[in-house]
Formats: sequence, structure tokens, C-alpha cells
Amino acid sequence: MNSISRKEFLHCTAMAGVSFLLPSINAFAVEQPGKKIRVAIIGCGSVSTQYLPHLSKSPYVELVSTCDIIYDRAKQAAAKYNIPNHYSHIDQLLAGAPFDLMITLTDMQEHGRLNKQALLAGRNVWSEKPMANTYKEGRALLDLAKEKKLRIWGAPAVVNSPQFAFMSKAIQEGKLGKVSSAHAHYGHLGPTWSAFFYEKGGGSLPDLGVYNLATLTGLLGPALSVMAMTSIVTTERTVDNKGKVNVEAEDNAMVLMDHGNGIISHVQCGFNYFDPYGHEGKGQEKPTITIWGTHGNMSLIGYDWAPSGVDMATHTNEKTQRFVPDPKTYVWQEGASVISRSMVTGEEPLIAAEHALHVLEIIEAARESGSSGKRIKLKSRFKYPVV
Ligand SMILES: NC(=O)c1ccc[n+]([C@@H]2O[C@H](COP(=O)([O-])OP(=O)(O)OC[C@H]3O[C@@H](n4cnc5c(N)ncnc54)[C@H](O)[C@@H]3O)[C@@H](O)[C@H]2O)c1
Repeated sequence: MNSISRKEFLHCTAMAGVSFLLPSINAFAVEQPGKKIRVAIIGCGSVSTQYLPHLSKSPYVELVSTCDIIYDRAKQAAAKYNIPNHYSHIDQLLAGAPFDLMITLTDMQEHGRLNKQALLAGRNVWSEKPMANTYKEGRALLDLAKEKKLRIWGAPAVVNSPQFAFMSKAIQEGKLGKVSSAHAHYGHLGPTWSAFFYEKGGGSLPDLGVYNLATLTGLLGPALSVMAMTSIVTTERTVDNKGKVNVEAEDNAMVLMDHGNGIISHVQCGFNYFDPYGHEGKGQEKPTITIWGTHGNMSLIGYDWAPSGVDMATHTNEKTQRFVPDPKTYVWQEGASVISRSMVTGEEPLIAAEHALHVLEIIEAARESGSSGKRIKLKSRFKYPVV
């Protein structure tokens, strides 16, 4: 039963400083026709060139401001997408034109600090991965958001693909029998434009492994414990913004996860993988994730951030068959647009902050295991199954 009227709801959401309040509207999903979420982008580098075209086409988004410490980037992005305001510092952004949602697309090391500042200023947040530098910092952000009746979400959006939904349903319906094992991999030769990927707080785990970790935990359930090995293969890199830099964060990682019920999975990622698909992943049509059970196995075709099908063989149909051969309906850069739509419609998105936090805890645990040689127990959980 709904305990507040629509009038009370509108009043209370206005008091919250934004025109929505998801935990309440989930109970009776008030669609607000024509309503748009006022969005500000912080960080106008490489990934913003993927986000902005998507956001600019969303009927639920009004792009209000851009911000970058390299002011020219903020100005250029604003000019290209007809965004009325641009700033060179988060303080100016938060004090400037009002907005509802901050989209954080800066260097990874800055996410925690900037996301906290936005929440403290009463703004909702969509953050590129990772949401924060540590699990503890990320957990504090989520607590702060709840306390202030705001929302925070973190990339990746892999759970949104129809291929993820197909795989999740196949597992839940027992098509694979008793699931035992899984493997996932993602790597290329590493970004060439910015040093932060190689500095402390960067690394291949939060940049690349994060996708496979989100997919496998989303399909098999939260990891109860983790063991890992990490290393640095290339000790020095040359990048556009700083020239030669020493590599401080792992550029090679192997992570084992225990999902309970005997299920063990493995993720490998790195910045030293020759592959002909490059950073863009163009033309990658091979399996990158495989899951085995007593009655069947299935493989995701293409990367989990750009999937193009699922191959499955089961004891009732031993010949491998291709399912959901659809590469078009999901794109990895859709996360912020999808949650903007949710903020208007009141429909809870599949992407959940608790899941992003769990993945962050795995990454930290993998590093700890890598340096201590120990198996690390995890405490975080999220709503499972996702689909
Ligand atoms: N590039 C991609 O294809 C891609 C894809 C998916 C996710 N991501 C993620 O997106 C994030 C950004 O990556 P990128 O490749 O766009 O990096 P980038 O270096 O191209 O862009 C980062 C931008 O953030 C700005 N910035 C840094 N600190 C700031 C601050 N305190 N305030 C305002 N602006 C600040 C920088 O000046 C730069 O313009 C990372 O978390 C990365 O893992 C990138």
C-alpha cells in the first residue's frame, strides 16, 4: 500500500532538492511525462566522447554543464553538444547552474573525492569505475548518499545486455545443471593517452578486469573469497599527457573467486595482451567468458561490454547453438542514460551500487592476496540474481 499521496510525494521530492526519490517511487512508480534529469559531466577526456553522444540523444536528459581541469576540454565539449555552462573546477560546477546528476568521467584516482563532494552538495552521482579508490571509501559514499536521500551508481553497465540476461536465465533455470566453473579474460596493450592508468590507484583490474568481475559475480553470485596473483610486466610507459612514466599499478592480474556451492571462477586481465582488436575491441567475435556445468556449457561471444551472442551446448542439445545474436541493443556507454531514465520513470535499474562496491572489494582483495599470498574473505554482497 502507498503511504503517501502523489501531492505529498511531489512535495517531499522537491524538498530533497531533486524531482525524484527512487526508494519511494519504486513503490508506486510515478512517471513524470516530459521530465528531464539535469546532468553535469566532470572529466571531458576520452570516455566523454562516448558518453556525450549517447546522453545527448536521451529524451530523459538535459545536459546542463561540463567541467574539466583542462578548461579547453570543458569548453569544447560544451560547444559541440550545445551545453550552456562550462567550468574548470568542481567548486565552480557545484556552485554554478543547478543540476540533478553528476557524471564522473575523470582520472580514476579522483572519483572518490569528487563523488563525495557532489553528494555533500546534494547531487546524485553516476561514476565511471571505480566509484572510489578503496572499498571503505566507496561504502562511505553509499552510506552518505542514503543519509542524504540521494543515489549513487557506478559503471560498468554489463548487466544490462540481453546476452547477460540470457546467460543469467539459463543458469537460474538449471540449463547448465550444477554450475562448477567459469573463466573470463580481457586485455589489450594499454591506454596511450593518460598516465593515471599506470599510477597508484590505476591498474588493469579497475580499468579492464572490472567488467569480467561484474559479469561473473552477476551471473554466479557474490564472491565469498578471493585469491590472486598480480604483476607489472612493462615497468615504463610513454603516454601523451606526461611522456615517460614508471608503472606503479598492476598491469597483469589473475583472480580466482569462490562463489560458494562449490563454484569457482577465474578472471584474467592486463595491459600486455597483444590482440588484433585494440582498445576499441573492433571485430572481436570470439568467446571471452565461458561457464561450465554438469549439463551444459555456454560462452559469451565478444567482450561483455560489447557482446554479440551466446553459444550454448547442453545434454539435451549437444550441438553448440548461437543465441541472442544481437550486437545492437546494448552499448557499454549507456549506463548514465539508463539511470537518468530510471530517475524519471521510477523503475529501479539493474545496475546497482552494491554490486559496483562488491567488485571494488574484490579488486582490493586481489591486490592484497597478490602481495600477501593469502586467500582473502569478502564481506560485501548485492542483490542476486541480478536478472
Ligand atoms: N577511454 C575509454 O574508452 C574508457 C572506457 C570506459 C571507461 N573509462 C573510464 O573513464 C574514466 C576516464 O577515462 P578517460 O580515458 O576518459 O581518461 P582521460 O584522461 O581521457 O580523461 C580524463 C579527464 O578528466 C579530467 N580531470 C582529471 N581530474 C579532474 C578533476 N579533479 N576535475 C575535473 N576534471 C578532471 C582530465 O583533465 C581529463 O580531461 C576512467 O575511470 C576510465 O577507466 C574509459
